[in-house]
Amino acid sequence: MKTLVTGGAGRLGASVVTGLVGHGHEVISLDRVELPGLPAAEQIVVDLTDAAATDAVVARVRPEAVVHLAAIATPFSAPEAVIWDTNTSIAFHVLQSAVTHGATRVLASSSPTPLGYGAPLGWRPVYLPIDEDHPLRPWNSPVPQAANTAPGRWSNRDVMCSVSRPVSTAPAESNGVTGKNSTPSSCRMGG
Ligand SMILES: NC(=O)c1ccc[n+]([C@@H]2O[C@H](COP(=O)([O-])OP(=O)(O)OC[C@H]3O[C@@H](n4cnc5c(N)ncnc54)[C@H](O)[C@@H]3O)[C@@H](O)[C@H]2O)c1
Repeated sequence: MKTLVTGGAGRLGASVVTGLVGHGHEVISLDRVELPGLPAAEQIVVDLTDAAATDAVVARVRPEAVVHLAAIATPFSAPEAVIWDTNTSIAFHVLQSAVTHGATRVLASSSPTPLGYGAPLGWRPVYLPIDEDHPLRPWNSPVPQAANTAPGRWSNRDVMCSVSRPVSTAPAESNGVTGKNSTPSSCRMGG
């Protein structure tokens, strides 16, 4: 399947690109930087905050599927308003263009932080295993917020839009197995 991975040069993105290629998919990475050695069929450098540039690239590629991972991913790495504006606009541009140009499967990355995970003053889940009915304690909403709205905004009878919540990922070279220390993502299937 022709699949666009945004943030393909990132920690999670590089592993996702490698995994998808390994399963026989044609993968195109969109990122503002190139990653030498990434096994994508093509790496396209674009600033995804630029709506017109993003749309032009997606219109050219016409992916069947999109995995949206590009974001300012680290809490407090920039002013919260900057993180909010950047991540929201990136998610909107990518997902809107993807669906407009024919993608029928969209996966956007959020985080478990809306549930309370990682809160500086500590957090315990109300119950385990955690699912999408778990109460929200969004201590750090700017990083993952935009992706949370994706299923409601873009799912329809022709488009399946989902959100994943990776908990902790590590590059393959750091532990030999991608996501070795991760717990399974929860996922809401739209459509
Ligand atoms: N890695 C984890 O443990 C983890 C945990 C929870 C959630 N997540 C989520 O997964 C996603 C990916 O996280 P990551 O750890 O791979 O982050 P990362 O910072 O390693 O990668 C993000 C990528 O997005 C790209 N990017 C950022 N702004 C861009 C822009 N304007 N235009 C184009 N590209 C841009 C960066 O260049 C980078 O390659 C994020 O949404 C993050 O919140 C990751």
